[in-house]
Amino acid sequence: MKAQEQLTAIREYVKKSFSNERTGHDLYHLQRVTRLANKIAKQEGANLFRCETIAWLHDMTDHKLVSDEQEASHTLKNFLVSIELSTSEIEEILEAIRTISYSKGEIPSSIEGKIVQDADRLDAIGAIGIARAFTYGGAKGKFMYHEQLSDNTIQHFYDKLLKLKATMHTATAKSIAEERHHYMEQFLEQFKSEW
Ligand code: ADP
Ligand code: NI
Repeated sequence: MKAQEQLTAIREYVKKSFSNERTGHDLYHLQRVTRLANKIAKQEGANLFRCETIAWLHDMTDHKLVSDEQEASHTLKNFLVSIELSTSEIEEILEAIRTISYSKGEIPSSIEGKIVQDADRLDAIGAIGIARAFTYGGAKGKFMYHEQLSDNTIQHFYDKLLKLKATMHTATAKSIAEERHHYMEQFLEQFKSEW
């Protein structure tokens, strides 16, 4: 299969799996992460095909979205074999996907994996990041804010979102993160003043 055909097959495969996802990992999240990863990859001189592949697939084995991570990884591997990716490409893709998630606290070894980790984290901050946090919190039945209970969405900004800027690997992502971080700080200030 040619690279363009492989990418089309990957997009179709992902679309089928994510058509009903509403907690912040919907198809548009994947589209934004793919676009951002592409933009960063061009600036950093990384492999565009591998970046795009990893970006589309990066949430396919996420423990929040699948019941069995191992099984999801196995199913994904079979799919990648079926569209004729090479063994080394498949290894790289699976390693990147395994390590991208914030909750794992790991860093992908390839530059393409690092770029998608940056892109995924950029989509968790800024205006979109704010919207995703409240969507996720609402879907999970959390308070938007609470004066006594720490299990609320505003707290999530301090637990995670404000820390993401410092974890960016590439210069391109660092500069985008700077602006989005500032926007979140302004939002929190305004939220508190209205509260
Ligand atoms: P990762 O896949 O990197 O571990 P998550 O899946 O935890 O990231 O996050 C996906 C989206 O859901 C992010 O935008 C994140 O801010 C949001 N989110 C995750 N946990 C919470 C939470 N406890 N409260 C509000 N938003 C959350
Ligand atoms: Ni993601």
